[in-house]
Amino acid sequence: MENKTQLPKSGTPRSEVLKQLASLHQVDTKWREGRAFSLVYHESDEHTDFLKNVYTMYFHENGLNPGAFPSIKKFESEVVSIAAHLLNGGEKAAGTMTSGGSESVMMAVKAHRDWAYATKGIKQPEMILPITVHPAFDKAAHYFGVKAIKVAVDSDQKVDLNAVKAAINENTILLVGSAPQYPHGIMDPIEDLAKLAKSKGIGMHVDACVGGFMLPFLRKLGREIPPFDFAVDGVTSMSADLHKYGFTAKGASVVIYKDKDLRRYQFFVSKDWPGGLFASPSVTGTRPAGSIAAAWATLHALGEEGYLRLYRDLLETVKKFRAGIEAAGLHIIGNPVGTILSYEAKDANIHVMADLMESKGWFVDRQMNPDSIHLTITPANAPIVNQYCADLKESYEFAKAHPELGGEGMAAMYGMVAKLPDPTMVNQFLYQYMDQRYET
Ligand SMILES: Cc1ncc(COP(=O)(O)O)c(C=O)c1O
Repeated sequence: MENKTQLPKSGTPRSEVLKQLASLHQVDTKWREGRAFSLVYHESDEHTDFLKNVYTMYFHENGLNPGAFPSIKKFESEVVSIAAHLLNGGEKAAGTMTSGGSESVMMAVKAHRDWAYATKGIKQPEMILPITVHPAFDKAAHYFGVKAIKVAVDSDQKVDLNAVKAAINENTILLVGSAPQYPHGIMDPIEDLAKLAKSKGIGMHVDACVGGFMLPFLRKLGREIPPFDFAVDGVTSMSADLHKYGFTAKGASVVIYKDKDLRRYQFFVSKDWPGGLFASPSVTGTRPAGSIAAAWATLHALGEEGYLRLYRDLLETVKKFRAGIEAAGLHIIGNPVGTILSYEAKDANIHVMADLMESKGWFVDRQMNPDSIHLTITPANAPIVNQYCADLKESYEFAKAHPELGGEGMAAMYGMVAKLPDPTMVNQFLYQYMDQRYET
């Protein structure tokens, strides 16, 4: 690839630029061929064309100022209301849309921080997080000056309640549980956490970024889903991503609070700017209206029946993956609730196996503690289950026969990271990785 590091003096015809884009796109993971297990949520070509139409219609509008675009105000408020009802928040629950799960999480942490300061005078806030919770919470802790207390999980990857209890003190503002967590697709004991939070008068956030637009439909399909939403007394906020299992365009999530009073602590207002009175719901200023409109349009185009159809099919695909993984002799971790699962190899180096899977064209999500491979299963993966499971079996047999390859490829890097005597060295390595990411 030719490097282009400075603004060209003169423009290139758009048709030529488009050709270059199409060619550069060739090197990317072939998610359309089901080669990726996260990052992309594609319901069908028909639905994607529909999303593009809607997004294009609202391509230039700005969700920053609904005064200028009343249709966007309608879309956002209705999306939030639909989500709040799906999550059993009723008429009292209140929220906003955000650009994604991380922003929803950040807003919930900020709102609880400001609530705890205003109502209890807590100046050094702390929140208690299972180690499996998404790093967006650590980011929120870092950005908003809230101390993150990490607690262990049990052998089923669910948060250890006794450890949570022991970590609560007078500065605790928030407990967090996932429904489900990303690494293994496992639910934390939300009812127990919420009961504990309520008894201490503190907040309880359920991170349903993955499950918010999945679990209500799985339950309707007859799957046993433990209570995880506002039906649980003590839950004060939830995050749920539309751009994941809601199958909308990227840049769309909701954060919902038990009531408007708590949501008030999320907002930012400024009265002194010479540019005029300013009020903003979340981190971003300008907000792409396309993703707000696409979320609304998707909820209406699919409706409950559409989601049920989609999840009925997807659960069949998940069943086939599970069967193939287990038949290969690999072990599925814990009791995953829906369409995310992870597996480990008891008698082989799973990173050696992953290296071989990558050489076969799969984009592999590797995990550590325990060493495992993650699958976020979507409709795009349905046609390739058999191929994946055959490659998996072969790669697993290969890894069992070649433990010496643990010293090569990415397996060597994961091995090294696991053995580093000083864990802060891993952060240094990650900072270097970020620098490299911006090298042209
Ligand atoms: C459980 C969970 N929470 C939060 C996030 C963050 O979402 P986003 O990547 O949209 O910012 C993710 C992303 O995978 C997630 O799985």
